[in-house]
Amino acid sequence: MNLAVATDHGGFPLKERIIQELKRLGHNVTDLGTNSAEPVDYPDYAEAVAREILAGRAERAVLICGSGAGACVAANKFRGIRSATCHDSFSAHQCVEDDNVNVLCLGARVVGPELAVELVRDYVKAVFSGAERHRRRLGKIAAFEASFGK
Ligand code: RB5
Repeated sequence: MNLAVATDHGGFPLKERIIQELKRLGHNVTDLGTNSAEPVDYPDYAEAVAREILAGRAERAVLICGSGAGACVAANKFRGIRSATCHDSFSAHQCVEDDNVNVLCLGARVVGPELAVELVRDYVKAVFSGAERHRRRLGKIAAFEASFGK
């Protein structure tokens, strides 16, 4: 799978470990920064992954900030992005199976590197079920986006 990974300074300590693991699993990974612990603004990195997905260059992304909250809020502002912060394994796979989440957010100040790697593994292995009830619910969300985007 083509994947994008981006972090702000809060998420930066996890970035290389996550990229290494995704590559080890055979994925193509685009690193969208940041590249140091120098403070940056998480909306810029949320925008970078959102645009990568919306342009079709990545199918999904992993976006990491300090808490997993701000980056997720920002990513969800882009029409067609479905982002979720998941710090447990069940959510990390179910968010894809039911909700077709295309941006997994993590908080590097919440989870350690080994749990983060497990969550990312669960996330990338998961497949959207395509069940009619889930399509219907996602259709309702898409309708929200369409109505507020005007
Ligand atoms: C940056 O200090 C921090 O606010 C950011 O990484 C994130 O946790 C925001 O939700």
